Amino acid sequence: MASLIVGGGESLRGSLWIQGSKNAALPMIAAAVLNRGITKIYHCPAISDVDNMLEIMKSLGCCIERTGEYVLIDSSQMDVRDISPEYAASMRSSVFLMGALLGRFGEVSLPYPGGCVIGKRPIDMHLAAFERMNIRVQVTGDRIFCSTDHMAGSGHRLRYPSVGATENIILASVLAPGQTVIKNAAKEPEVIELCLLLNKMGADIHGMGTGNITIYGVSTLHDAVFSLVSDRIVAATYLAAAAATAGDVEVRGVWAHDLKTVLQVLAEMGCGIIVRNKRVRVIGPYMLSCVDSIYTHPFPGFPTDMQSQIMACLSRARGISRLTETVFEDRFKTAGELKKMGADILIENHTAVIRGVECLKGTCVKAWDLRGTAALVIAGLMAEGDTVISDSIYIRRGYEDICADLKKLGARIEERKTG
Ligand code: EPZ
Repeated sequence: MASLIVGGGESLRGSLWIQGSKNAALPMIAAAVLNRGITKIYHCPAISDVDNMLEIMKSLGCCIERTGEYVLIDSSQMDVRDISPEYAASMRSSVFLMGALLGRFGEVSLPYPGGCVIGKRPIDMHLAAFERMNIRVQVTGDRIFCSTDHMAGSGHRLRYPSVGATENIILASVLAPGQTVIKNAAKEPEVIELCLLLNKMGADIHGMGTGNITIYGVSTLHDAVFSLVSDRIVAATYLAAAAATAGDVEVRGVWAHDLKTVLQVLAEMGCGIIVRNKRVRVIGPYMLSCVDSIYTHPFPGFPTDMQSQIMACLSRARGISRLTETVFEDRFKTAGELKKMGADILIENHTAVIRGVECLKGTCVKAWDLRGTAALVIAGLMAEGDTVISDSIYIRRGYEDICADLKKLGARIEERKTG
C-alpha cells in the first residue's frame, strides 16, 4: 500500500512539460494489434494503466520494447484472442481490445469488464454496435465471446457519445469491407489521436473530432511511428493546483483548445490565463471566487475527469458553487473526504452544492479513485497543516510522478510505502 503526505500553504510556481495522454495511449496500444507489424509510440506515459495494457498485449503474443522515449509493439506473431481474467479484471481498458481483436481475427473472448468505483460502466453500446457489424455476441457467465465469419461495414447512431464505444467501433471496422458510419460519435481529442494513428497505418478514416465519423475499410495496415499528445487532464490538474494555491504555473506541450472549458471555469474563479502556442499559464488569485453552475459533459463540455479536482478548488472559493456530474453515476465519493478536511459540500442527487469555507484543515483522508486522489492532493496543498492520503496507489494509474512534478513547483509532498 502507499500514502501521500501533502504539506499545505505553499503557492505553486514554475513550469512543467506534461506527460503523454493516458486515454490516448490505451486505445492506440490496442490499435497496434491491427497492422500485424511494428507500432512505435513516443511520449507514452509511464503509468500503471499502460503497464497493465502492455502485459495484456504480451499475453496475446505481442513483443514489447520499452524505453524512456518510446514503446514499440510488434504484433506480427500474435496468435491469442482470449484475454485472461487475471489481466482484464485489473483494468477496464482491455475493453478496447475487443474491437482490435475482432478487426484482426474476427473473434475475441474476455471476462465481462466489471464496473468501477465511479459507476457501472456498461458496454451495451459496444456490443450492440458489434452485432450490427454481423458479429455474434454471446455472454455466458462472466465471459463474453464475439465472433464473425464476415465482418461488414455498417451504420451506427450512438445514443450517447461514448468514448469507448466510438473507439471500439473504429478499431473493429478499419479492416472491415465496406463503409462504416458513426453518428453521435465522441469528439474527445483522444479519439482524434487514435484515428490519426490508424490513418498513419493506412486506414481511411474521416470526420474524427466531429460528431460523424466515416471509416472506409482497407485490406491491410502497415507499420507506423507516432508521437502521443500530452495528457490534457494531467495538465488541467496541475493548473487547478496553481489556481488553488494562489500560484503561477505554466504547463507545456498542451493545446489550450483541449482545456478550453476548464480554463473558462478557472477564469470565472478569478484566475489569470495566458496562452502562447502549446503553453498554458494560470495565475491564481489570493481568494478564488465561486462558480454558480458547472455541468460535466462529453467533449467539448467540461470534462468529468476534472470534476473532483475542481470540487477541491471550489471548497475554499468565496460563495456557493454547484457542480453537476452528468457522465458517471457515482463520482462524488471524494466529497466525503473533503468534508473531513472541513469542506462544506452537500450532495443533492447528481449535484454537489459547495459552500466555500475560510480554510481546510490537513488530516487523514482516503483515496477512492484516480481523479479523486488528485483532488485530495489539491486539497492538501490548500490546507493548513499536513494531509495524509491513504490508498494513494490509484494515482499511479494516470500520473507518472505527481510528487516529482509538484515538488518542481515548490510543493511539499512525499509518497510513503505502507505495509
Ligand atoms: C473514457 O471512459 C475514459 N477512459 C474515462 O477516463 C472518461 O471519464 C470517459 O471516457 C468520459 O470522457 C479511457 O479513455 C480509458 P464512456 P469510457 O464510454 O470510454 C455510459 C479517467 O479517469 N456508457 O464515454 O468508459 C457510461 O456508463 C477515466 O481517465 C453506457 O451506458 O467512457 C458512462 O456513464 C475515467 N454504455 C457514459 O456512458 C456503453 O456501452 C460515458 O462513458 C458505454 C458507456
